[in-house]
Amino acid sequence: MDSVSNASVTVEISGSKESPEIPEPARSGAAGAEVLTIEDLHVEVEGHEILRGVDLVVKEGELHALMGPNGSGKSTLANAIAGNPAYRISSGRILLRGEDVSSWPADARARAGMFLAFQYPEEISGVPVSQFLRQAVSARRGTDISVLEVRVSLMEWMQRLGMDPAFASRYLNEGFSGGEKKRNEILQMAMLEPDLAILDETDSGLDVDALRIVARGIEEVRRVRPALGILLVTHYRRILEELQPDRVQVMLEGRIVESGGPELAERLDREGYEELR
Ligand SMILES: Nc1ncnc2c1ncn2[C@@H]1O[C@H](COP(=O)(O)OP(=O)(O)O)[C@@H](O)[C@H]1O
Ligand SMILES: [Mg+2]
Repeated sequence: MDSVSNASVTVEISGSKESPEIPEPARSGAAGAEVLTIEDLHVEVEGHEILRGVDLVVKEGELHALMGPNGSGKSTLANAIAGNPAYRISSGRILLRGEDVSSWPADARARAGMFLAFQYPEEISGVPVSQFLRQAVSARRGTDISVLEVRVSLMEWMQRLGMDPAFASRYLNEGFSGGEKKRNEILQMAMLEPDLAILDETDSGLDVDALRIVARGIEEVRRVRPALGILLVTHYRRILEELQPDRVQVMLEGRIVESGGPELAERLDREGYEELR
């Protein structure tokens, strides 16, 4: 029943539709199975069409940066992928590892291997980080994991991410600094073992230290989990100085208007988005 979370990389590759043009060697050395496939996606928010035909493919091991000016639809895309019910898909499809999840509720998508940094409540009073993660990991695996198992894995990850062990006992998001919130997001991503992670860096107040935390954390999770596909929403090139994206996608007025390698982010920095209009 739990075919998605059990699907190993090798199984998926043998059943994948291979793309004839493989522009870049996959990091993982795999044949580049598609983790996320978006086909001609149209999304409405409160009766207004915000996404107007988005196509996007994220393959195993790839890190995509999604850039674009404010209001271009980046967060709308992230919400639609995650299954936020306020974002109505009027046409097109979203596939996770080749399976059409367009009509699935958000929790089913999460169980199937999708991770969204902002999908969890801001603050849960009285719930320690460790307890929250145990519940979240159990939900993802479809079976209760023991206190001990979560503790061991949590301690390992906190060490890798350079976090103070005392953090595990703190209440979720209560009084977290910006940097701690970011670390906690990365910790959740690591512990939940997703196939696809969507990180929306909505917080324009992220300072250089927080950006570095996110960048290093992402690198560490990719090292341990090389097939993970990541869609990183960002309007800043700064994080892309810390983190080499495989692809840069540019969104403008609800469509992806340009796609390229890391050099595209540099060009946008020089020329801005006006050139693309
Ligand atoms: N929940 C919402 N209700 C109404 N309008 C929304 C909502 N979410 C997004 N929009 C509108 O959709 C457009 C795209 O917004 P958004 O996806 O947040 O852009 P970005 O993340 O690129 O800044 C904007 O015009 C915004 O006002
Ligand atoms: Mg946004």
